[in-house]
Amino acid sequence: MEIAEPFSILIVDDEPNIRSGFAKGLANESSVIDTAGNAEEALQKFEKRQHSLVIVDVRLNCSMTGIELMQKLLRLRPLTAVIVITAHGTIETAVEAMRFGAFDFILKPVELNLVRQQVRKAREHYEVRAENALLKHRLADSGEISNIIAGGAAMQEVFRQVRQVAATDATVMIHGESGTGKELIARALHDLSHRSSGPFIAVNLGALPETLLESELFGHEKGAFSGAIRQKPGCFEQAMHGTLFLDEVTEMSAKSQVDLLRVLEINEFTRVGGETRLVSDARIISATNRSTHELIEEGAFREDLFYRLNVIPIEVPPLRQRRDDIPLLVEHFIELFCARHRRPLKRLSPEAMEILTSAPWPGNVRQLRNVVERMVITGAGDIIHENELPMELRKVSRQSLTVPNSLAEAMDECEKATIAAALEACNLHRENTAKALGISVRTLHYKMSRHGLH
Ligand SMILES: Nc1ncnc2c1ncn2[C@@H]1O[C@H](COP(=O)(O)OP(=O)(O)OP(=O)(O)O)[C@@H](O)[C@H]1O
Ligand SMILES: [Mg+2]
Repeated sequence: MEIAEPFSILIVDDEPNIRSGFAKGLANESSVIDTAGNAEEALQKFEKRQHSLVIVDVRLNCSMTGIELMQKLLRLRPLTAVIVITAHGTIETAVEAMRFGAFDFILKPVELNLVRQQVRKAREHYEVRAENALLKHRLADSGEISNIIAGGAAMQEVFRQVRQVAATDATVMIHGESGTGKELIARALHDLSHRSSGPFIAVNLGALPETLLESELFGHEKGAFSGAIRQKPGCFEQAMHGTLFLDEVTEMSAKSQVDLLRVLEINEFTRVGGETRLVSDARIISATNRSTHELIEEGAFREDLFYRLNVIPIEVPPLRQRRDDIPLLVEHFIELFCARHRRPLKRLSPEAMEILTSAPWPGNVRQLRNVVERMVITGAGDIIHENELPMELRKVSRQSLTVPNSLAEAMDECEKATIAAALEACNLHRENTAKALGISVRTLHYKMSRHGLH
C-alpha cells in the first residue's frame, strides 16, 4: 500500500464541459487530476494510477452506469473514495450509490464551493484509511506468521520472502514436496496482504476432471448444461477482492491450461453458458509438488502459463532438509492434539525424539503431524517412548539415519545396508558373504572399509 503517492482525482463524466469545469475548480485540491469521458477510458486510467478519489456521474453515455463503474473500481481498489454526481430529482439513486459503497454524492446543478468541501472531507477520510492500512502492514511485518512453525534458517528464509511479497499483489507460485506446508504459506500470503478481509478461495485443480473444471473456475449460468439448475459463481468470482489459490496447478489438462492462461492474460472471464464479461481482481497464488522444469520439458505443462504464474517463486524445502524444525513441530503438534483430544500434556523420551529428528519423512510435515496425533491418542503414559513410535518409522530410521540428497548417495546407503545385512546373515563369514552377494572377497573388503563396516 503506497500512501506516499500524491492524492489523485479521477473525474468521469460524458459531458466535456463538466469534466473541464471540475478539473479547473478542483485544481487547488489535488496535484493530479485525470478525466475520462466513458467507463472504458476510466478503467484504463484507473488501472494505471489507482486514484485516491473518483468523481463519477451516475449517468454515463456508455455500456455501464456510473454505479456499476464505481463497483468495479472499488473491487479493484477498496481504499479509493468515490463521489457520485446525480441530477436533482434522483436522490434515490444517490442513496443507492451510498449503499454500494460511495463515500458521498453531489447533486446537480453542481455548486463548486460545496464540491470542494466534499473533496476535502473525502481526502481526510481516504488518508486515515490509507494510513491504517499501512500500519496494519507494518504490524504484520514485525510479527511471527501465525501458526506456521519455523525454527531453522531454511524456513526463516521462506518467511522473509512471504513477508516481502505478501503486501504486493504479485502472482506467487509455491513449489515443494507434498506435505511441506504449501497451502499454509498460501494462506499466510493472504492473511498478511491488504486483501486479508476478503475471501481466500482454494481450488484443487488435480482433483477435478476437465469437464467440471471450467464451471468450477468460472461458474455457470442456469441451464448452461444438464444439471445446471441454477446460476453458480465460480472460484474467480468468489475470490473477488481476495485471493485465489490454485492448488496442484500442474495437473490441469492441456485445454484447461489454455483456458486459464487466457483469463490470466485478459483479466476477464464469462460464466459457462453466459455472455457477461466479468472482471477478475483476485490475487493468484498457485502451488505444485512436481518439478515444473521437467513437466515443461515433457510438454505436459505450458511454458507461457508457467511464466504467468511463476512471477514470484517460493520454494518450501522438504522436512529432511530442515531437521532443526522437527523438535519445534513435534512440540507444537503435541500441544495441539493433547488439547484437541483432551489428553494431559505429554513429552517425548530423548530416544523417541532422536528417531523423529532423523527419520526420512517422505510425507513431510503432514506425515509428522499424523504420527504425533496417533501417538497422543494411543500413548498410555505422559512420556512417549521409542517403542510407541510407528513400526515403519523405527525401521527406516535404523537403516539410514540420514536421508540422501542425491541418487548416488541413496545407492551408497543402500549398498552399505545390503552388505551389513549379508554379513549379519552369514555370521560375519567374509567368503560366504562375498559369495552371497556375487562379488569377490577383495571387492567386499574394499567396500567394507569404504563404508566403515568392520
Ligand atoms: N511449518 C508448519 N507449521 C505447522 N504446521 C505445518 C507446517 N507445515 C505444514 N504444516 C501442517 O502440515 C499439513 C500439510 O500442510 P499443507 O497442506 O500446507 O501441505 P502441502 O504442501 O499443501 O501438501 P500437498 O502438496 O500434499 O497439498 C497441514 O496440516 C499443515 O497445517
Ligand atoms: Mg496442498
